[in-house]
Amino acid sequence: MKWWQEAVVYQVYPRSFKDSNGDGIGDIQGIISKLDYIQYLGVDVIWLSPVYESPNDDNGYDISDYYAIMEEFGTMQDMERLIKEASDRNIKIIMDLVANHTSTAHEWFIKAIEEPKSKYHDFYYFRENAGHVPNDLQSVFLGSAWTLNQEINEYYLHMFAESQADLNWHNKEVRLELYKMINWWLEKGIGGFRLDVIDYVAKDIDNKIITDGPLLHDYIQEMTSQTFSNYDVMTVGETWGADTEKAIRYSDLDGSELSMIFNFSHILLDQAGTEKWDYKALDLIDLKTNFEERQQGLYQKGWDALFWCNHDLPRIVSRWGDDGDYRSESAKMLGTLLHCMQGTPYIYQGEELGMTNVPFKTIDAYRDIETINMYNDRKAKGYSMEVIMDAIRHIGRDNARAPMQWDDGPYAGFSDAAPWIDVNPNYLKINVKNQRADENSVLSYYRKLIELRKKAPYKDILREGDFELIDPKHPDVFAYKREYTKDGLVVICNFRPYPVEFSIRGKEVILTNYQQARQGNLLRPYEAIVYSLN
Ligand code: GLC
Ligand code: CA
Repeated sequence: MKWWQEAVVYQVYPRSFKDSNGDGIGDIQGIISKLDYIQYLGVDVIWLSPVYESPNDDNGYDISDYYAIMEEFGTMQDMERLIKEASDRNIKIIMDLVANHTSTAHEWFIKAIEEPKSKYHDFYYFRENAGHVPNDLQSVFLGSAWTLNQEINEYYLHMFAESQADLNWHNKEVRLELYKMINWWLEKGIGGFRLDVIDYVAKDIDNKIITDGPLLHDYIQEMTSQTFSNYDVMTVGETWGADTEKAIRYSDLDGSELSMIFNFSHILLDQAGTEKWDYKALDLIDLKTNFEERQQGLYQKGWDALFWCNHDLPRIVSRWGDDGDYRSESAKMLGTLLHCMQGTPYIYQGEELGMTNVPFKTIDAYRDIETINMYNDRKAKGYSMEVIMDAIRHIGRDNARAPMQWDDGPYAGFSDAAPWIDVNPNYLKINVKNQRADENSVLSYYRKLIELRKKAPYKDILREGDFELIDPKHPDVFAYKREYTKDGLVVICNFRPYPVEFSIRGKEVILTNYQQARQGNLLRPYEAIVYSLN
């Protein structure tokens, strides 16, 4: 058993978590000031989105120096203090490792341009200018993945923004530089890494293979053996293209690759077309089948990361719950469903309050480069403003990036000054202060969910138990059983805003999102119940 198989992870997006010095931008001292809150929640690990030096075109996912801290966020001393103060509270920090690309402001890229004959030129993917782009590869953020650098008259590859140049991992020196940097951070006592778009790193651009390049697992194994495996740390890869079969390989329990990956296949179930912006209603049967396949496929072979949210995704209560009348019930129901499965659960800041999507009306309220690119792209293609804004409000990344809602004071207690992005106006009602004082709040419920993972006999069932759907064809209820030796749990979740017939029960109620016990065979709107089996 590994420590991270019993852990719960909390993701902090530093820019939006807590501002300590009144410039409207969250920072490391702000996070330190809220460590007591994170400890109170009961989690074991913080995944910190990037805090490295960066021009901030993609909020820190465009790194210009891996060995320095972004000025707006603080100093290296602040960072060391954060690691220390978290560790005093038994909380580990995992950093975000953005190794597929650097900012074009990174010294490697600058040298590649200033001295095109130097070794740095081959750190990236340059192609000569034959009067047109080298091929039709598209950036994830829309438009060509190639940009012409005027100074040396060559194209360079960027799978994301223009200022995020892809590193050439086929160059051994690049990999060694990255391993050196990883070890430098591990020596500071961090608890591991989240690996940004790690399935991109072995790309074969001439054959237009971007994810899952033929050498991907060789590189991951090499990296692990030269870095992570020498420390007792956890690693989680971001892999949008992964399915269960791939997940088994990445997360092989022999430790040769990663601890676990983010498999996004459930998140993609409500995508309607090839672009993330076109969505459809979720079919609950699809969701059930998806988790059944993963839970059973990985059982005793690998390990899953359990998540609904992150800084790139809309709020789950707005997506698959109800952010109106049943906000609190549906947020708790979704938490229950996820946290009782096998894997390591992740909570994105504010998810534990049932924070919702933002109701911003016009594009100037948005900050995210991907959102703004899409807006311009679709406007040029003639989409109606209504359709564009509707997609942004449902899918856009800024839904997750509005400031954390601490209290009902100015700017939700996030800052003394106007924040870099507007606060969601519902902070007056939805905030930490209110929810701490209310034993029936979403926050109090999340604390119970986390506690369940630490308590015998449930902790063994949750960590080791198998998974079986109950009534797999039921269109409204997601129910499953977890069994381990002689113990077991039954988890029942109503996904509808109305009562639904469901007769199955367990022995004793261990946790539920309604105060009064249920009568008869009806489940109330978004009701969730965890029963013991025997
Ligand atoms: C990952 C990050 C996202 C970022 C992208 C490029 O998907 O989670 O925020 O924009 O990689 O680094
Ligand atoms: Ca600040």
